[in-house]
Amino acid sequence: MKKQFFAWIIALMPVVALAAGSGYPLDKADIDLRDQAALQDGAKTFANYCMGCHSAQYQRYERVANDIGIPHDLMMENLVFTGAKIGDHMKIGMRPDDAKVWFGAAPPDLTLVARVRGADWLYTYLRTFYEDATRPLGANNKLFPNVGMPNVLADLQGRQVIGCKQVPLRDDNHKVVYDPLTAKPVTKESCEELTIVPNTGKQTAEEFDTTVRNLVTFLAYSADPNKLESQRIGMYVLLYLAFFFIFAYLLKREYWKDVH
Ligand code: HEC
Repeated sequence: MKKQFFAWIIALMPVVALAAGSGYPLDKADIDLRDQAALQDGAKTFANYCMGCHSAQYQRYERVANDIGIPHDLMMENLVFTGAKIGDHMKIGMRPDDAKVWFGAAPPDLTLVARVRGADWLYTYLRTFYEDATRPLGANNKLFPNVGMPNVLADLQGRQVIGCKQVPLRDDNHKVVYDPLTAKPVTKESCEELTIVPNTGKQTAEEFDTTVRNLVTFLAYSADPNKLESQRIGMYVLLYLAFFFIFAYLLKREYWKDVH
């Protein structure tokens, strides 16, 4: 009972931390750190689409390759574009001072960003860029209004714009309102909604969600590389405890046999 209670507290902790963010609702990222294919795909997207501006300087290429199962030669060929060696930290060439002039804000290092923001925040942020002609780089973001980062994944996602859509009507408590007769959600037209201009991206909506989920999986791994290892060790510990319990129980029976 007690154990369950603590498990719940721990499970709810990130939810409480995230609730303190912007008002935009977060989508669930549902990442799986054991999914090596996802981690590899995410690492590739990170190297190709993010490392132009963001470093992951507390992480080494070699450790990433070993942890997520990429042979060193493939890693060098497909993920290292900066002339770095396999043992180097994942730094970039851009100088923070220049970046500040170009984007209004320096792109932060992303090694630990998943710990600060959480996976759901990142998953939502990377999917909610939209065209906004009033911004210097033509892009804005639902979760991070007036962000300095351009929409770097637009060629995959397509052109996302603000348009009109039927959305479920919600009451004052943000609960969906149902029609009492048909039992279907009541909808209203909203002209503040994100919509993709058809056939402008290389990926479908589902493919793009997967690309971003894999990227977030990689960022979550990068923020806590020992987690992969701890999860494996944790399983052995639980197995050991289960095994030990049998003997402890038998021993207890043996001791108490003569008492009753
Ligand atoms: C062209 C340069 C550029 C590229 C490429 C780029 N970013 Fe950014 N990014 C920025 C800048 C600039 C900021 C700072 C925005 C601000 O503070 O207004 C930023 C901010 C962020 C933040 C917010 C950090 C925080 O906690 O405040 C995240 C997360 C992020 N970027 C992730 C990514 C990911 C993932 C990619 C690759 C898909 C990527 N970025 C590609 C320039 C870039």
